[in-house]
Amino acid sequence: MTHLFDAPQFIEDSPSLAPNRDAPQTPEHTAVVFDNVSKQFTNARGVSTTALANVTLKVARGEVFGIIGRSGAGKSTLLRLVNGLEKQGSGAVRVNGVSVGELDERELVALRRRIGMVFQHFNLLSAKTVHENIALPLKIAGVPKAEIDRKVAALLELVGLSAKRDAYPASLSGGQKQRVGIARALVTDPDILLCDEATSALDPETTQAILALLRDINWRLDLTIVLITHEMQVIREVCDTVAVIELGAVVENGPVWRVFGDPQHDATRALLRTLVHDLPADLAQRVKPLRDLAQADARILLDVRFTGADAHEPDIGGLTSALSSEGGSVSFVHGGIDRIQGHAQGRLVVSAQVRESADSTVQKQIATLLERARRYANHVEVLGYV
Ligand SMILES: Nc1ncnc2c1ncn2[C@@H]1O[C@H](COP(=O)(O)OP(=O)(O)OP(=O)(O)O)[C@@H](O)[C@H]1O
Ligand SMILES: [Mg+2]
Repeated sequence: MTHLFDAPQFIEDSPSLAPNRDAPQTPEHTAVVFDNVSKQFTNARGVSTTALANVTLKVARGEVFGIIGRSGAGKSTLLRLVNGLEKQGSGAVRVNGVSVGELDERELVALRRRIGMVFQHFNLLSAKTVHENIALPLKIAGVPKAEIDRKVAALLELVGLSAKRDAYPASLSGGQKQRVGIARALVTDPDILLCDEATSALDPETTQAILALLRDINWRLDLTIVLITHEMQVIREVCDTVAVIELGAVVENGPVWRVFGDPQHDATRALLRTLVHDLPADLAQRVKPLRDLAQADARILLDVRFTGADAHEPDIGGLTSALSSEGGSVSFVHGGIDRIQGHAQGRLVVSAQVRESADSTVQKQIATLLERARRYANHVEVLGYV
């Protein structure tokens, strides 16, 4: 692992390339393992809630692992098991091969030095300066002052806040406060960073800057990052792997491009609604179901999806030719292609003309169009006609 203070200090110059993600998943390559973990909370009246149910997941060393799910799905609970802030009811959570649930208090303190945590609301001490806030974990650990000053200065440089060394949190912007939170989380040289909604309190531009910083430290320090967010673009931009949690269970997980390009579970589709090129309301209103189609001439709307599973880019020219080969016109009505981890994927809503002829009914032509379009895309469905 690259040591923080051996690293060059020019954030702007660092390539955005991530470490090799294709390495085999041997135990040495695994940072965190959730092994059939369940957790229940029981309130004062004896009513229990299942927060996690049989969760099995692996976080590879050096990756950025995202956790998404609706409010109350169990995301924070899952994250808090990693540093022992919560204890699982059954199963095991292993960090670098060590079973967290079996550690005593002293060992937990040691473990938490290896795991940094960043919070949505920063959790800075208002009566302490930026320097003092970042220094605190080292001060508690009894690290000599000269060593603390050296580390804090290097971290302030890393997060771009050297000029704010003696400022108090109240005088900082949200983004600056979160930079302090990140620096504080890194001060003990952890190899895992946990982020619970770290950018949720920030505006979009500041979010981008914090994401760039997280990506940079992931790469520069070979730090494993596990992050929770409700912002899907955060996952798309910084994560390698994503797990979707619904009612305490993992319903889907895998490389971001695969999960986002071809979501299998309703919970994932619901979460991704903010990202995908959903059918605009005016269009949705005008589409009529195919079974009502009575005329001999119509425009049908096709929902064409590219999942990114193919090595090549979507062949829009080929698709257009295939759909217009009977002489009918084709137009692209809505949608777009995005690129995630090098995979081009997206959704296009295409309108194509069908017209009854001597040797073909409209229904037959629609079947032909579908069959042809499917040669060029991963999923094609008829939305209806207009
Ligand atoms: N300390 C606690 N005591 C009792 N119930 C709890 C406790 N912490 C969490 N829960 C319950 O466990 C479930 C999962 O909570 P958790 O905080 O992990 O959800 P989450 O996915 O992080 O939600 P959000 O997106 O709103 O932060 C919820 O039903 C919650 O009410
Ligand atoms: Mg939460």
